[in-house]
Amino acid sequence: MQRTLILLKPDSVQRRLMGRIISRFEDKGLSFVGMKLMQVTPELAKQHYAEHVEKAWYPTLESFITGGPIVAAVLEGLEAITVVRDMLGATSGLKAAPGTIRGDFSSSRQMNLVHGSDGPEAAEREIALYFTPEELVDHTPTIATWMRAADE
Ligand code: TYD
Ligand code: MG
Repeated sequence: MQRTLILLKPDSVQRRLMGRIISRFEDKGLSFVGMKLMQVTPELAKQHYAEHVEKAWYPTLESFITGGPIVAAVLEGLEAITVVRDMLGATSGLKAAPGTIRGDFSSSRQMNLVHGSDGPEAAEREIALYFTPEELVDHTPTIATWMRAADE
């Protein structure tokens, strides 16, 4: 089992797409083990996007991500990090394949609706940025035996 952080960015909330996006992760069989509506501060944005802080486009990214409430969530599932990234599609909604969340709902490189951790180290770091251990709820879905074979 693997855990990954997703953020429904301010455009998801403002465009009333939260429910439809959450449904896609539920439909796939991923489990929500943490979830909250919150406001990203400039300080948190700089920590979250540490690898991008020096980029020329970072100031507009910070304005965007701090510009309204977001939903932060932790998803759990087999290969959850790659599964979620594949569901998001390419960074730009203009390049993302149809069938992906960004490909279906976004026409922007910046306003691409959802963040997903890009690897195991990023997932661990980002989950700790947004959630305390007590905010994550360990549970085994009762439907698990109908989601995958016992040896998967
Ligand atoms: P990046 O880590 O490259 O993309 P991803 O979210 O797919 O891992 O970039 C982080 C975010 O920064 C991206 O989701 C949207 C934004 N961004 C811009 O605003 N302008 C840009 O030119 C790029 C490449 C990204
Ligand atoms: Mg990235």
